[in-house]
Amino acid sequence: MISFYKKFIGYICLGFLLASFTNDGNDPTEAKINELLSKMTLEEKIGQMNQLTGTGLSDDMKGLVAAGKVGSILNELDAKTTNELQRIAIENSRLGIPLVFARDVVHGFKTIFPIPLGQAASWNPQVAENGARVAAMEASSVGIRWTFAPMIDVSRDPRWGRIAESCGEDPYLTSVMGVAMIKGFQGEDLTDPSSLAACAKHFAGYGASEAGKDYNTTWIPEPQLREVFLPPFEAAVKANAATFMCSFNDINGVPSSGNPYLNKTILRDEWKYDGMLVSDWGSIEQMIPHGFCADLKEAAEKAANAAVDMDMMGYAYMVHLEELVKSGAVSEKTVDEAVKNILRLKFRLGLFDNPYTEEKEILPFYTPEALQMAKEAAIESTILLKNDKNILPLNDNIKSVAVIGPLSDAPADQIGTWCFDGEPEHSVTPLNAIQAEYGNKIKIIAEKGLAYSRDKDQQGISRAVAAAQQADVILFFAGEEAVLSGEARSRADISLPGAQSQLLSELKKSGKPVVMVVMAGRPLTIQKETEEADAVLYSFHAGTMAGPALADVIFGKAVPSGKLPVTMPRMVGQVPIYYAHKNTGRPASNIDLIDDIPVGAEQTSIGFTSYHLDAGDSPLFPFGYGLSYTNFEYTDLKLSSNEIDKNQNITIRCTVKNTGNREAAEVVQLYVRNVVASLVRPVKELKDFNKVTLKPGEAREISFTLTPEQLSFWDLNNKRVLETGLFHCWIGTNSAEGLQGSFTVR
Ligand code: BGC
Repeated sequence: MISFYKKFIGYICLGFLLASFTNDGNDPTEAKINELLSKMTLEEKIGQMNQLTGTGLSDDMKGLVAAGKVGSILNELDAKTTNELQRIAIENSRLGIPLVFARDVVHGFKTIFPIPLGQAASWNPQVAENGARVAAMEASSVGIRWTFAPMIDVSRDPRWGRIAESCGEDPYLTSVMGVAMIKGFQGEDLTDPSSLAACAKHFAGYGASEAGKDYNTTWIPEPQLREVFLPPFEAAVKANAATFMCSFNDINGVPSSGNPYLNKTILRDEWKYDGMLVSDWGSIEQMIPHGFCADLKEAAEKAANAAVDMDMMGYAYMVHLEELVKSGAVSEKTVDEAVKNILRLKFRLGLFDNPYTEEKEILPFYTPEALQMAKEAAIESTILLKNDKNILPLNDNIKSVAVIGPLSDAPADQIGTWCFDGEPEHSVTPLNAIQAEYGNKIKIIAEKGLAYSRDKDQQGISRAVAAAQQADVILFFAGEEAVLSGEARSRADISLPGAQSQLLSELKKSGKPVVMVVMAGRPLTIQKETEEADAVLYSFHAGTMAGPALADVIFGKAVPSGKLPVTMPRMVGQVPIYYAHKNTGRPASNIDLIDDIPVGAEQTSIGFTSYHLDAGDSPLFPFGYGLSYTNFEYTDLKLSSNEIDKNQNITIRCTVKNTGNREAAEVVQLYVRNVVASLVRPVKELKDFNKVTLKPGEAREISFTLTPEQLSFWDLNNKRVLETGLFHCWIGTNSAEGLQGSFTVR
């Protein structure tokens, strides 16, 4: 009865709310925004458009806040300071507009989850949502209400250090994971004090930086922009991402922070986005070295006129916007639109009603639930790439293990890039975890061999080899230090750094089986090492709980289920290498590798097809690849029809059976190829996937429905079209295998 009464009152309130919408045709929040805007001076409006980095309670900052010259502060990290600054904004500034505090909370605040590339390897959006939720709970407790994440730049170049922050090479997988992160950060209700406004970044095309060099120029033809780089951002708009961030790169000659085509035509006009767009750090000012603006004043003008609402650490708006408005170079209406977007964010976050953060004695960091979720995320992110003779999981005959390698006990490195706030002392390393869990059951001999990933110390190698000789199996934890990936951390050589490869070769000479675990910020070129090792696990940088997760996988308490979110090249010269490539007019066939070519062979002696003489045409491992401790059998591919009309859906199904003796999860993947079209289409495109857990012997029918929209593509007129003709489709365990079917769209 009480609940009925509550519901009844609820309906009445809803009625009033709807009435207030319909009476004046206005959303009540918009009315409040307009009312506030009407009271603001030009100076106060411009004040909202500045974001500055925290300087604690410095007199300068207090003065700027009191004068209403700052809209947002980033990198201020304790509730006392954020509250005091907020109090000044509310009580001392003329209109009492609250500040919003921001921070890069990318894959955790204190409890660190796997790097986003690792989370993407889980192919489980719940993993990403949990990670973002935990991050939001922790970060909001110190007053942060806006994170600069998720990073949803599709990235097909492992040289680029920021691939670590991305969800890899595929627009669909990136969209799914990005949306899950937005959901996790923003929670059910953005006004909840534990919610963070998300920020879809970097808009756009940053992942295409030439040569994988950070901040580099990009050339992206419109169909590729629409097909590859924009879909995750459009998905973010639909998922109500509260904010967007510009990218650093110029795209076809126009830096994103001065790019009206991206920021107005696409973001605002086409997608109807009403959230807020912030520049990247200093990216407005950086339009000067780009060679796009002569000075800071021109940079401010171009950014404002390109609808960049907030200037992050550029001082361009602070110094020049007022005179630009007064001279007519930027209209006050343009400023008003920006300010409305900023105020809308603050209303959406509930900051006008609830601006302060509760100052708790005990902060909700590293709770057992958060650590458990971080561990599960790390398990699901781990990819089994090789498992000769089923050496993994280690069985009961193993009485001693040698724990070797620079990443075996590297608490700061395992949490990876972009964790400003994660504390290495809370990391549980593989060595810690194996000792704690198995130290009383088997002999554990620890010898890192190399102190850090770039180390070349030969004596360390000898010590490691001596240790290995005493063990039944060698666990070799290789990879990259955290500092070798992330922003401005591009590499031209993406092999294992330092003497790690040599260390592995020496270990191998002991004749003992070697399990190599790679902990890195990107796919590394590990062809030779993969051949040498008996088993290979790829875990990227898996976060605070990397150790316990890897121990569970190695000793078989958990079954690996990660799949590559990015193609692994054999050699760096194959980059960019991605599964959704075009076929070319001479697809690879008759591959003769460089050593197969007889000396003195004639120019016409080998086939004229598309491949590298020294690498062939295949990657080391394809996108979507990952083994399990069980086997999955795919049978009975069925299509709802062999012919569909342009407005019809098609259902594609098959049966997946766990034929082994371990319960395990499999990522069932659906790919499609539009065989002939007016614009050449990729050889395969991921359209859907489903991660299912099957018991030993269990078979399940997995079904996917494709809509006409999913079968269509962007044509040269920037329109999505579905053309008639033949389509191939595959359901499989990775992008290179699968049951194939065909259908025709008529
Ligand atoms: C990065 C952004 C980040 C910003 C604020 C920039 O250098 O490109 O991704 O959000 O700094 O820290």
